[in-house]
Amino acid sequence: MASFRSDALARTAPLYDRVKRVIPPPEWATFAEDVEAILELKRKRNAVVLAHNYQTPEIFHGVADIVGDSLLLAREATKVDADIIVLAGVHFMAETAKLLNPEKTVLIPDLEAGCSLADSITAQDVRLMREHYPDAPVVAYVNTSTAVKAESDICCTSGNALAVVESLGTEHVIMLPDEYLARNVATQTKVKITAWKGHCEVHERFSADDVRALRESHPGITVLAHPECPPEVVDVADFSGSTAAMSNFVGRERPSRVVLLTECSMSDNVAVLHPDIEFIRPCNLCPHMKRITLKNIRHALEANAHEVTIDPGMVDRARRSVERMLAI
Ligand code: 13P
Ligand code: SF4
Repeated sequence: MASFRSDALARTAPLYDRVKRVIPPPEWATFAEDVEAILELKRKRNAVVLAHNYQTPEIFHGVADIVGDSLLLAREATKVDADIIVLAGVHFMAETAKLLNPEKTVLIPDLEAGCSLADSITAQDVRLMREHYPDAPVVAYVNTSTAVKAESDICCTSGNALAVVESLGTEHVIMLPDEYLARNVATQTKVKITAWKGHCEVHERFSADDVRALRESHPGITVLAHPECPPEVVDVADFSGSTAAMSNFVGRERPSRVVLLTECSMSDNVAVLHPDIEFIRPCNLCPHMKRITLKNIRHALEANAHEVTIDPGMVDRARRSVERMLAI
């Protein structure tokens, strides 16, 4: 066992070299065997791992084939050639991948990997909103269930929300379920936006006072905030954008000192790419994203666990909402 582990350590040394700034050696020693096993299972089973930017670095840099924000994962899911997609992310992301790949096997390593936004609204709530505002199209954040997508006109992500709202050509839209994303988009458009009261349990915890305190304790810091943060946080940040937009901003602008007001693993993953940039790390953990581990990714590939299925009564309408968004 000890020598198997040290063989795995030796063979994964080039991979470890990438992440050594964010994963201490004793921790990698516990990951190496699973990383190797996953790489082998992917080859054997013709599988790919799609990982969201909030996955931990051993997943993100160690076993993922495609990494990105929700928009990129949805787009890339349409191009995948493999037989099996393992979605290292939360349930709505796996459902979106399945909607776009009905003939492929899509696996989510932990069925409990949910999302507070997706849980904040039901299909019945959407129908009631429509009754109330019959002339306003419904824009659903991808962080929603298939049932909610099926009741909506079009989806959006944090990466394209403004473009989606403005593409509809109406004076008024309903945007759900994230109140803060809707209010942040409303500051950039003349379109009237009616929001739902859903919040992300990770991003709602950041405050404008946090930003002021950071600027005092870390002079010269550049503050990036995800648009799921409250508007008063976005207002005092230097930049706001999707997880991919934040990562691109760091690569493009190369601030000497930066904080990403978002989920914790994001800074680790971006820091791996920019050893010369100082990342200050007050962050909040997403308990749902953190349910995905190397162990359950390995189990997913060994046992086809857990296969994502979609209610046939909703699949066409939900797919139409996602495809309409991808066409923009
Ligand atoms: P992105 O689409 O920006 O990656 O965000 C997804 C998410 O769940 C943020 O909390
Ligand atoms: Fe959902 Fe927030 Fe977690 Fe993203 S960070 S998956 S929006 S709970």
